[in-house]
Amino acid sequence: MAGASHAHWSSRWAFIMAAVGSAVGLGNIWKFPYEANAGGGGAFVMVYLAFVFLIGTPLLVAELSLGRRGQLSPIRSMEKVAKEEGRANWWSLVGWSGVIGSFIVISFYSVVGGWTLSYVLEALTGGMSGITKEAAEAHFNGMVTDPITPLFWHAGFMAITVGIVLRGVEGGLEKAVTVLMPALFVLLVGLVIYSGVTGDFMAAVNFLFAPDWSKMNADVALNALGQSFFSLSLALGSIMVYGSYLTKDVKIGKAAVTIAAADSAVAILAGLAIFPIVFAFGLTVSKEEGLVFMTLPIAFGQMTGGALIGTLFFGLLTVAAITSSISLLEPSVSYLEETGKMSRKKATFTIGVAAFILGSFSSLGFGELSDFTIFGKSIIGFKSYITNNLMMPLAGMFMAIFVGWFISRKGMMEELAMEEKWFRIWFFMIKFICPVAILIVFYNIVFGF
Ligand code: PHE
Repeated sequence: MAGASHAHWSSRWAFIMAAVGSAVGLGNIWKFPYEANAGGGGAFVMVYLAFVFLIGTPLLVAELSLGRRGQLSPIRSMEKVAKEEGRANWWSLVGWSGVIGSFIVISFYSVVGGWTLSYVLEALTGGMSGITKEAAEAHFNGMVTDPITPLFWHAGFMAITVGIVLRGVEGGLEKAVTVLMPALFVLLVGLVIYSGVTGDFMAAVNFLFAPDWSKMNADVALNALGQSFFSLSLALGSIMVYGSYLTKDVKIGKAAVTIAAADSAVAILAGLAIFPIVFAFGLTVSKEEGLVFMTLPIAFGQMTGGALIGTLFFGLLTVAAITSSISLLEPSVSYLEETGKMSRKKATFTIGVAAFILGSFSSLGFGELSDFTIFGKSIIGFKSYITNNLMMPLAGMFMAIFVGWFISRKGMMEELAMEEKWFRIWFFMIKFICPVAILIVFYNIVFGF
């Protein structure tokens, strides 16, 4: 099996949209603003952007090329490439970490995806009209602490993801991404303009771009690193599996820069849409995770046509989340399918149901199980920490080491077909800068500055 029957994107555009669709998601619009807020604004943003371009983008190239060389699921691709290069089989652990990590992430990603879904209905039915700050907070807190409602939406979100993934690459994944990604971008720009006109735009710009370095420490740097990986969908197998659906004619270097640029642009735009409102209304949020859900409804509730704009915004945020969640389901599905024991349909159902169950605990962690903590973290916080701050950086580091030190340089050069000059820069980054930088951030978290 494998190789010959492996699916492919129908065009370069379809691939770029799928990869940008995977990268752009809740990470940009929901998580980035609250991470930036917690990390003190500008300093976090600068470090974050440095990580995206100096570490994330070279790794994106590495992960895509490993997938394309392997033409299999992440686990088997790593195995295959390692074997071709005469290297130990345990390099496939990078693939395993990705598949397991993506499974953990989809379990809680879907919970937040469910929240966005419920906010679509809320906006549509005029529930945000004239809403006050207190009411917006109360609504969010009421929703997430309720034991049943969020589970219902979590199930809905997972069902949509499963519905797309079981239709396969061209029929499902591609169709879903090519129309809706551009639409999301346009709407976000519109929202920034609205927010800039009505909110405190300068305060937001200052907050996001004037770094206050006193807020920077090892923890914040590690969060920024984790966030850059998360936002670029790195080291969880998603990018590798999307790379495996690539044909040889696509230039991976260029594609990676496009993906990273689009992803960063959306994160910054999300910040510029949200913070002017936060500052204009003097909002402070009690629960970090509630930032987008507690602030934007206030703006939608006051503008003319706010019900429509609000519905569109949360609708498209849901779409952005779905184009990411399908890429989170794909690594484990492709692996199960490849074992030959299950059809694609059955594999997708199995993973979807299992992830729903695991995710339910994250959901309940906001209410019924809120007293239950793991190392002082909520269930969702814990899952997010081990994937974002441990598994992704570690897998990323080993991927860089593998590509930089254990694969023939010549083979890599052929695979990438980059101009010599760019290849040299990339190779230097992947060989030295990426592993060392990741290691330094880790070292600091363990031993302090
Ligand atoms: N990048 C996605 C986001 O920003 C999340 C994601 C992470 C998707 C890892 C796939 C793999 O929302």
